[in-house]
Amino acid sequence: MKLFVYHTPESTPTDCTPDCAVVIDVLRATTTIATALAAGAEAVQAFSELDHLFAASEAWPAPKRLRAGERGGAKVEGCDLGNSPLDYTRDVVLGKRLFLSTTNGTRALQRVAAAPAVIAAAQINRDATVNYLQQHQPAVVWLVGSGWQGGYSLEDTACAGAIAAPLLVAGSMEAGNDEVIAAISLYQQWQGQLVALYHHASHGQRLLRLNCEADLDYCAQTDTLDVLPIQQEPGVSQLDSAVLA
Ligand code: MLT
Repeated sequence: MKLFVYHTPESTPTDCTPDCAVVIDVLRATTTIATALAAGAEAVQAFSELDHLFAASEAWPAPKRLRAGERGGAKVEGCDLGNSPLDYTRDVVLGKRLFLSTTNGTRALQRVAAAPAVIAAAQINRDATVNYLQQHQPAVVWLVGSGWQGGYSLEDTACAGAIAAPLLVAGSMEAGNDEVIAAISLYQQWQGQLVALYHHASHGQRLLRLNCEADLDYCAQTDTLDVLPIQQEPGVSQLDSAVLA
């Protein structure tokens, strides 16, 4: 298994596709996706564009859908939910399809949608992600940070390191680029104090300005959800039944 880390979706190669793409948006889209599916959502359908979200969701039975939109960290007017994972409770999402569009995370998912396997990973379901990679041994794996509008994000690269580190220790992966080793080093430096790291991060500071400190605390939890959101059809993530078994 050869692992590559890309800090942003824009930096991923356009002339090839991995066997497995792991999309990471710790603050907050992939944390939200894992949380929503763990709480019983039927699926999360990701959209880059809000008009596509509204058009597609219109065709879905109203009692069985929720529209979730975020731009700049704030909830989009006309949506039922923003992108705080704390809002995705069982009584809100059970049995419903989430139509989700965020500033960066859903764009990252769409960027790699052609890969045979696309996983949504965050700190909160890191172990489930590592276990999937160990079990399936994809030949080429991309760990793709969502960043912020093309810029680097500390939290996503640290999470990539959190996923790569146990695989390196187990001897079950080789680093495909130097970014893998750098990501592991970043994670090892901050693993016991991820909330502090998120307070340094530019997007963490943006969320703090939006009074979302509780989101940073929640998103910094490691391995608290044993769920694996995996793409079942382009743009549509559901729980990997094997993990549920
Ligand atoms: C993103 O997509 O950039 C983030 O998930 C934005 C957010 O914090 O909601």
